[in-house]
Amino acid sequence: MNPRIKCLRNQLNSLNIEGMIVSNPINIKYLTNIDAEGELLITRRENIFLTDGRYVEAVNSALTIDSEIIVWDKRGMIREDYENYFLFCEKVGFEESYVTYEKYKQIMQLYKINELVETEGIIEKQRRIKDEEEITNIKKACEITDQCFTFLKNYIKIGMTEREIAYRIEEFFIKNGAEGLAFNPIVASGTNSSMPHSIVSDKKIEEGDILLIDLGCKYKGYCSDMTRTIFVGKVDDTIKNIYDMVLGVQEQAISQMKDGANIKNITKVAEQELKINRFDLIHALGHGVGLDIHEAPVLTSKYDNLLKENMVIAIEPGVYVPKSFGIRIEDTVLITKNGCINLTNSEKNYTIIA
Ligand code: GLY
Ligand code: MN
Repeated sequence: MNPRIKCLRNQLNSLNIEGMIVSNPINIKYLTNIDAEGELLITRRENIFLTDGRYVEAVNSALTIDSEIIVWDKRGMIREDYENYFLFCEKVGFEESYVTYEKYKQIMQLYKINELVETEGIIEKQRRIKDEEEITNIKKACEITDQCFTFLKNYIKIGMTEREIAYRIEEFFIKNGAEGLAFNPIVASGTNSSMPHSIVSDKKIEEGDILLIDLGCKYKGYCSDMTRTIFVGKVDDTIKNIYDMVLGVQEQAISQMKDGANIKNITKVAEQELKINRFDLIHALGHGVGLDIHEAPVLTSKYDNLLKENMVIAIEPGVYVPKSFGIRIEDTVLITKNGCINLTNSEKNYTIIA
């Protein structure tokens, strides 16, 4: 049995949708474990993966009976094959965020679908709640991330460039069991730290720099996400105060995170605390983490949204003073019935490197 596809079919049934064309490769991986170019068709009777000669062998050898997937090579298909997939289906869903207009026209022409309907992120919503296997993989990714931070504290020295450090992060991940990066690491030193998504440069690490490091790896497809802001040589008292404030905001948010808690309220509390200290939260307070580094839910005060048990969330308040400095502290946590568990556990007191 494929429980993820079963769950999707139940949801489609309740919306009176009789089939679905899945185009987002990450959603295809989630439902089938297939890592290949192609389209997944959830038809009335079967689940069909349409691919081409480059992938047929690899996909077939990765599937088991329990995957409940039939693989079709597009080269051998004729027009009638396409037309038969959704025969007698009134409504067929598609992923409106992934299908270009050109692809949309192609789908309409090939499959002869009566009514092609938007599915409003139905699979992304399903992915918000992680199962046991997903949680195990994210935990492992977080563990490797913590190990990497421990390594970096001893490794980083004055005179190294941001790029060298970013390179060593990737190397560490691969040497320690990860598949690779979850995203390009952010290694932002000195004034570069004021840009939340600073691009690594050839700037050398200098005495007195703030060093913001945002890193995450992938383990069996699943991501981790952690940021630490550390100090080179020394840390000013004024900066210490701001660091403590950001850390307080993060810990306050973490202390409120549990099944049923309203994301809007948690975010508002964080925004207000920053506001009292004359800072604005210029990005989301956090986001879901899973097969994608950024997935649902987004932590925002714009609308009501509840946390649920077994969501995995990155919580990342930060303050940024243009052309001066930035401080962000981020952890990946697992939501439980009564609270949440930190999956990244690197130290958060002032880390000063020589
Ligand atoms: N840690 C990268 C991000 O959340 O954007
Ligand atoms: Mn993040």
